This record gives sequence, structure tokens and C-alpha cells, in this order.
Amino acid sequence: MCDHHHHKGVSLWFTGLPCSGKSAVADRVAEILKNGGYNVERLDGDIVRQDLTRDLGFSKEDRDENIRRVTFVAKLLTRNNVIVLTSFISPYKAMREHARKEIGSFMEIYVNTPLEVCIQRDVKGMYKKAMAGQIKEFTGVSDPYEIPEKPEMVLECGNEPLEESVRKVIQKLKDEGFVE
Ligand code: ADX
Repeated sequence: MCDHHHHKGVSLWFTGLPCSGKSAVADRVAEILKNGGYNVERLDGDIVRQDLTRDLGFSKEDRDENIRRVTFVAKLLTRNNVIVLTSFISPYKAMREHARKEIGSFMEIYVNTPLEVCIQRDVKGMYKKAMAGQIKEFTGVSDPYEIPEKPEMVLECGNEPLEESVRKVIQKLKDEGFVE
């Protein structure tokens, strides 16, 4: 494999409901890029919230602060030619716009999986708890998700296999000149 160190960095900002498939797609794309010799980092909500943002909860203020810190990290990595794949619900348009403005080299990827499909998947049983009132402020049930208006990509992860979504993201990176 050739040396990809001089390729331009970019942040792929995956946004969508819980269990929409953000992490699954981002993980697989990251794996493929790594195997291709690219410098890649993943920033995932469930992992970042155990460390960098472990003090935060799910109020609007805390979600905004979560995204603010992650944006800072993604910005540093991106300007050092890393391909950054973030997967946060990031439900608020204003903070996604903040990320876009700060990071610059930025692609918003809306993982548009119908709520019913997300509820059926319910990987961690959280929708069930939220619908039973045991988790407050749960996105899609009792907390808002502001749909992206002009995302660079929309993935229909309820209608297509994971590998198809992954293929589309890789193709987009090629089209935009971030990978060969
Ligand atoms: S964000 O809104 O601040 O972008 P983030 O993506 O970091 O959210 O975290 C979402 C993860 O936290 C979910 O995958 C879920 O496992 C967990 N979680 C716990 N409580 C909530 C809640 N009230 N709403 C959404 N996700 C929650």
C-alpha cells in the first residue's frame, strides 16, 4: 500500500436517531479505509461519553456541550489530514452547523432510518425503557431530533443492507477526492 499521509483530512459527521445505524456504517467505512492505509479516527457517542464527556447527560445544554467538545477534537484531527468518522445523534441543527463551520472539511451524513425500524432494532433496549417512561428525554420518543436540511449524503439504512450504505460513503469520498 502506498503512503496516504498527504491526503486531505475530512470529518464525516454521521447523525440520526438511536439505533439508526450510524455506528455500524461508520465502523465499517473506518475499517475499509484503515485497510487501505489511510489515517482514520472514530469518535462514537457511546465511547466518548465514557471519557471525554463522561460528566454530561442528555439535556439540550449537555448534548450541545458534548457536540462542542467532540467538534474541537474532530477539528484538530481533520486539519492533520485524518479522516474522522463521528457518530453522535447530534439532534440539534445549530450544533451540527457549528461543527461544519469549525471543522471546514466536513460532510454531514444523515442516517435516515424510520423511527419504527430503530424501535424494532432497539439494540440496547433503551426505546422500550423510554416508551415505558423509565428513561427521560430519549431522542425520538420524548426528545427532539431536527432533521438535516442540506446534508451531503442521506443513507436509507432501513431500506438497504449495511454494505450498500458503506459502498455509497466510500464512493462519495472518492468523488470528492478524499480517497483514491
Ligand atoms: S447526543 O445527543 O449528545 O449527540 P450521543 O450520540 O452522544 O447523543 O449519545 C447517544 C447514546 O447515549 C445512545 O446511543 C444511547 O445509548 C445513550 N443514551 C442514554 N440516554 C439517552 C437519551 N436520553 N437520549 C438519547 N440517547 C441516550
